[in-house]
Amino acid sequence: MNRRTTLVTAAIATLTTGLALTGCSTSDSDAKSKPELKVSDAFMPQPVGDMAGGFLTVKNSGGTADKLTSVTSPLSDDVQIHETKDQKMRRVESFDIPANGELKLERGGSHIMFMKIKEQPKKGQKVTVELHFEKSDPVKLELPVMEQTHTSKQHQH
Ligand code: CU
Repeated sequence: MNRRTTLVTAAIATLTTGLALTGCSTSDSDAKSKPELKVSDAFMPQPVGDMAGGFLTVKNSGGTADKLTSVTSPLSDDVQIHETKDQKMRRVESFDIPANGELKLERGGSHIMFMKIKEQPKKGQKVTVELHFEKSDPVKLELPVMEQTHTSKQHQH
């Protein structure tokens, strides 16, 4: 039984390696050297007061790391990116988006922070944001406004 399990594991490892190699050879050399970003799970909990938070995931399927360097939005002239350490938030200059990895902005962790918001978006509305990266082109998207307690479906806790 043990031996059989080992064989199966080896077969899977071979298969996975084969797939990875195929993936590389089908993309041209230029694509391989660029970050390939995709944004998902974006939302804003309905804000209370004059600040709002934004959460999303940026997946990078490219072989090169990138950085989220800033966020802009019509909702605020001062949109910051914050990390949370020891339950205190701190402004940062950028967030790393590792090669073949992801950047997760989620409740209790790193987030986008909209200071002195110009209006109070309500649940069901959308807030336009533009994400700026060190290497990739800016990405414009809309954050759906959710109830205050909303968390991403893929939250692991
Ligand atoms: Cu914050």
